[in-house]
Amino acid sequence: MQYVSKWCVVPSDVCFRIARGKCALDVRQWVGENPQHVQGECFDFSHILVIIDAVAFFLLQQTEPSISVMSKYNSPVLDPSAIPLIALGSMNETHKEEVELINQLGRLLEDAVNGQPDEAAITEKLHEWAEHTKDHFSRENQLMQDYGFPAFPVHSGEHDKVLAQIEALYQRWLETKVVEPLADYIFGEWPRWFDAHVNSMDMVTAMFLSQRIPQ
Ligand SMILES: [Fe+2]
Ligand SMILES: [Fe+2]
Repeated sequence: MQYVSKWCVVPSDVCFRIARGKCALDVRQWVGENPQHVQGECFDFSHILVIIDAVAFFLLQQTEPSISVMSKYNSPVLDPSAIPLIALGSMNETHKEEVELINQLGRLLEDAVNGQPDEAAITEKLHEWAEHTKDHFSRENQLMQDYGFPAFPVHSGEHDKVLAQIEALYQRWLETKVVEPLADYIFGEWPRWFDAHVNSMDMVTAMFLSQRIPQ
C-alpha cells in the first residue's frame, strides 16, 4: 500500500514513520534518500506540507490511530498526556485546552448514553468547545498569515473543513437532541483527525513559526 500524490509516491511504512513524529525532517530525509519518487522540480516547504496532509489523510483511512483512542463512548476521548508536542508553546497550550474541553464533553455524552442525559449541559459544553475551536483555528491562521507561511491555504482549508463539520453537528444536535451521532463524532472521527492534524500540519507550521517568533 502506498500514497500517490502529485509530487511523489510515499510507501505506507514511510507514512507511518512520518506521522509518528519528526514528520518534516523525515520527509526531507526520505526525499533525500529516494529522489526517484519526487516528480516535481521545486520541492519546498509547501510541497512537504501537502505530502504530510496526504499522509494524514492516508492515516485516517487506517484502523489503528497513532495514539490510543478509547473504545466507543468511553472517557476520556483523548489522554492529555498523549497530545503530540510541537515546536510552539502557545499552540501546545491551545491543544491542551481543546482536549480538556473535549474530555468534559465526552464525559457528558458518556453519561447520556448510560441513561443520565443532561441536554442543557451538553449544549453548553458543545458551544464552548466549538467557540474554542474557532479561536484556536483563527489564531493559527493569523500567525501563518503574519509570518508568510507558504502553505497557509492548505492548512487553513483544513481548518475550514472541520469548522463546517462541527457547525453541522451542532445544528443537528440543537434540532434533534440525539446523542449517538454527536458521540460517534466526538469519540471516533474527531480524535483521529486531531491526532493526525497536530502531527502533520500543526507540527510543520509550528516548526516554521518557531524559527521566526522569539520564545
Ligand atoms: Fe492546532
Ligand atoms: Fe491547525
